[in-house]
Amino acid sequence: MNKDSPKIAVVGAGIVGLTVAKILQEKLDKTNITLFAEKFHHDTTSCVAAGIFRPGTSFKGPTPEITKKWINESWYYWQDILKSFESVDAGIMAFDSYIFSKENYHVTRNHLIEDLLPIYRPVQEDELKLVNGDWKYGSYFSTLKVGCEKHLPWLEQIFKRKGGVIVNGKVDSFTSLAKYDLVLNCSGFGAKYLCNDHDLVPIRGQVVKAHAPWLKFAFYGDYDTYIIPGLDGVATLGGVRQYDSYNMEVNKHDTAAILERVYEMLPALKKAKIVDHKVGLRPHRVPVRVEPEMVGGLKVVHCYGHGGYGVMCAPGTAIHAVEIAINLLKGNSRAHY
Ligand SMILES: Cc1cc2nc3c(=O)[nH]c(=O)nc-3n(C[C@H](O)[C@H](O)[C@H](O)COP(=O)(O)OP(=O)(O)OC[C@H]3O[C@@H](n4cnc5c(N)ncnc54)[C@H](O)[C@@H]3O)c2cc1C
Ligand SMILES: *[C@@H]1O[C@H](CO)[C@@H](O)[C@H](O)[C@H]1NC(C)=O
Ligand SMILES: *[C@@H]1O[C@H](CO)[C@@H](O)[C@H](O)[C@H]1NC(C)=O
Ligand SMILES: *[C@@H]1O[C@H](CO)[C@@H](O)[C@H](O)[C@H]1NC(C)=O
Repeated sequence: MNKDSPKIAVVGAGIVGLTVAKILQEKLDKTNITLFAEKFHHDTTSCVAAGIFRPGTSFKGPTPEITKKWINESWYYWQDILKSFESVDAGIMAFDSYIFSKENYHVTRNHLIEDLLPIYRPVQEDELKLVNGDWKYGSYFSTLKVGCEKHLPWLEQIFKRKGGVIVNGKVDSFTSLAKYDLVLNCSGFGAKYLCNDHDLVPIRGQVVKAHAPWLKFAFYGDYDTYIIPGLDGVATLGGVRQYDSYNMEVNKHDTAAILERVYEMLPALKKAKIVDHKVGLRPHRVPVRVEPEMVGGLKVVHCYGHGGYGVMCAPGTAIHAVEIAINLLKGNSRAHY
């Protein structure tokens, strides 16, 4: 660090903020980055997620090309970590997945990843009987997951090792950040208040975490039913998708509905010990917001509103946000890098 390094503030310690900070440190020779966040680790939405690499087909950036680019770059970013000696510490895990439907062939297809993943194929007749249910349609695909319970602490360590500073506290307004050359706004759902952004809507999710180390595949069924293997044998069972609900309490009716659906699909799960119940508000916005803004003379780059796909797509959007940030800094006489 050097006193000529641009002073950068990142708001948010979810997967988006920490990934932005990591990429900033890689792309700039000299950095002086301070990361502000109210919540860390298990208290973030990122840590509620199963973190599977499977975007909903409605996931949207500003253009179809940019959406594809985010997804593609994210996939290769995760592959690079997966191939490295750090994959376990970083909480990245590869597995294959089935998606089944009784009602609709189209839900088993996914134009955003069919050409990207090494395997994405229709299932054969006998595979429809792998789990309970009169499944009519199905696809099989290779994928991976990012366990934020390990990934966030791993990112935080890298950030600090490279000289990053972490401040625990709420940012109430931009004025408090006026001394920075640039601010990255990665506040997730917090942007709703911070930014008065009415396009940001919560889609409430609730999941059950259960110990099922024998589970080797992910399974999706109708009505938002999913069973996703996880780190240390802890699977994520879901779920619900409640639009415009702010309720952060565990709802016992949601729990009952989730368990009924996953037990029906895979009765062996009845023996899996339930270890946790989690609720999170997906920061839904169409499109996801990755763009610069001048706020009262301060350079801001926004990167928020990833909805239900912010874990898998954090790298692609972060690379994009950092590109914008570097271009903005080039117009800044104090920035030498
Ligand atoms: C049940 C459920 C399942 C999911 N499954 C998946 C999945 O399988 N795959 C996937 O890719 N995604 C999934 N998601 C979505 C994913 O969790 C989110 O898209 C992602 O976590 C968003 O990350 P983020 O960093 O933007 O937000 P967050 O993790 O919410 O982090 C926001 C950060 O900003 C801070 N902050 C906000 N406002 C302020 C402020 N004013 N001052 C200081 N700090 C502030 C917060 O304290 C926090 O540190 C799921 C979500 C839920 C709820
Ligand atoms: C980094 O930025 C902070 C915040 O502006 C400043 O107080 C600190 O002196 C800077 N550190 C270095 C090494 O430039
Ligand atoms: C996808 O990303 C990789 C790695 O960044 C790049 O080499 C490749 O050209 C990209 N492919 C497409 C179709 O954008
Ligand atoms: C985040 O973005 C919103 C929307 O433009 C803005 O009003 C808010 O000030 C930003 N906050 C920070 C800390 O960047």
